[in-house]
Amino acid sequence: MPPEIISIYGSPRRKGNTAILTQEAVRGARDAGAGVEEFVLRDLKISPCLEIYACRKKGECAIKDDFQMLRDKMLAAKGLIISSPVFFYSVSAHTKILMDRFQSLWVRKYWIDQIPHEAQNYNRKALFVSVGATHGKMLFNGVRLSMKYFLDTLDAALWRTLTYRGIDLEGEIKTHPGYLKEAYTAGKELAETVL
Ligand SMILES: Cc1cc2nc3c(=O)[nH]c(=O)nc-3n(C[C@H](O)[C@H](O)[C@H](O)COP(=O)(O)O)c2cc1C
Repeated sequence: MPPEIISIYGSPRRKGNTAILTQEAVRGARDAGAGVEEFVLRDLKISPCLEIYACRKKGECAIKDDFQMLRDKMLAAKGLIISSPVFFYSVSAHTKILMDRFQSLWVRKYWIDQIPHEAQNYNRKALFVSVGATHGKMLFNGVRLSMKYFLDTLDAALWRTLTYRGIDLEGEIKTHPGYLKEAYTAGKELAETVL
């Protein structure tokens, strides 16, 4: 049986703030009985999209690397836990590279299969976790929009977003036990929703 939840770590920092929060969410999901498989994007070999549109034929990306493996794992799952820090009001480069490769699924969905935008069938749910150092009102606007439209390509709804401002140093999030608890609970509730 494939794991019910796939967890993706988008920060280059292995012990960074989003990684710590994501580990808590994974712990919560496992405590609720879900199988969770974790992937750290910096450990995978995934090329950026080269915009050659070979995917126009069958919705299949022509670049063969770890993308296909991760895509298939994500498509076999019911829940996703994805995290990225805010980097210049966007997601991290590792996360963005993964997102862009899903253009092949966008092509399959909207150009090949011609699914009408109003006939969406979101059969996956995603928990998105993000952290930024500053406090601006619009700090998470960019990452939230990128995540929402990326998730659409794999018929996943942005089920819940956890965002934390004013957190910069590696591991600083640990000084906020309430945030860790929130991540644990979100992971648990995601599992309860998809199981
Ligand atoms: C390349 C880079 C760009 C960043 N851009 C922003 C930014 O636009 N806004 C912000 O508030 N923080 C920014 N930060 C700070 C990170 O979001 C912050 O340190 C966060 O806690 C890192 O999370 P992590 O430990 O999970 O990697 C940036 C950090 C780096 C390294």
